[in-house]
Amino acid sequence: MTEVIRTSAELRDKVAAWKRSGMLVGVVPTMGALHDGHLSLARAAREQSDRVIVTIFVNPMQFNNASDLDKYPRDEAHDLALLEAEGVDVLFAPGVDEVYPDGFATKVSVTGISEPLEGAMRPGHFDGVATVVSKLFGMTQAGRAFFGEKDWQQLQVVKRLVDDLNIPVRIMGCPTIREEDGLAMSSRNVRLSAEERAQAPVLHQQMQAAAGAIRAGTDAGAALETAKEAILAAGFHDVEYLELRTVDGLKPATDAAKPVRMLAAVWLGDVRLIDNIAV
Ligand code: PAF
Repeated sequence: MTEVIRTSAELRDKVAAWKRSGMLVGVVPTMGALHDGHLSLARAAREQSDRVIVTIFVNPMQFNNASDLDKYPRDEAHDLALLEAEGVDVLFAPGVDEVYPDGFATKVSVTGISEPLEGAMRPGHFDGVATVVSKLFGMTQAGRAFFGEKDWQQLQVVKRLVDDLNIPVRIMGCPTIREEDGLAMSSRNVRLSAEERAQAPVLHQQMQAAAGAIRAGTDAGAALETAKEAILAAGFHDVEYLELRTVDGLKPATDAAKPVRMLAAVWLGDVRLIDNIAV
């Protein structure tokens, strides 16, 4: 039975009791609209902790676009049923006033790695993520936190802030879960029309093709340009970025001599999709 908790005071008592019994608490922060990607994180948390909290909070502070926030899918009853089936102990689903009460005036801002890519396209986004994640760590007091590599830049930002602020939680990065055709699972995928859903896997296919070409010695700029053209030809409206970045520090990379990651953000209809792969 998954217990639904809405206040941090109630959650603190529950977690304190678990910790008094020597239990390791794992948390999976989410914004709901759960899919297999989230459930794989809950499973990892289940395997690597004694008690599991999944948080659902659609964080207004990380949306730089009001209509994206409005359109963000929400179905708590369905999410709860999925969490029950995974044996999650607590669903922590606070309201906006619980997370940002009157007078709330703090912003957590990670410089450097939060600035390019998503940071450049969505001003303020990572401040919102860093602030809410810091709050969720404080509210849940978890010893381990599970994040998907799908949001790879977010994962690096969270690791940085935990190190910088000495937050006593271990960040566990977990692999991206994909549909059979390669599309990375995302809560936004439900907003794709049938036609767009059929086009969507082209993104991952082209990223893989470019990664293969770069590994085989093709100039990275040329390989990325070919992929970009193929993505646009397949019906995507815009490629916001398709770039190679160093794993360490997210610096622009021109080849795969150092460990690098390929990251992309694209628009298909009015849905923004992101993806990333190792090269
Ligand atoms: O990845 C997400 O769903 C969100 O950015 C997170 C980490 C739950 C913070 O709101």
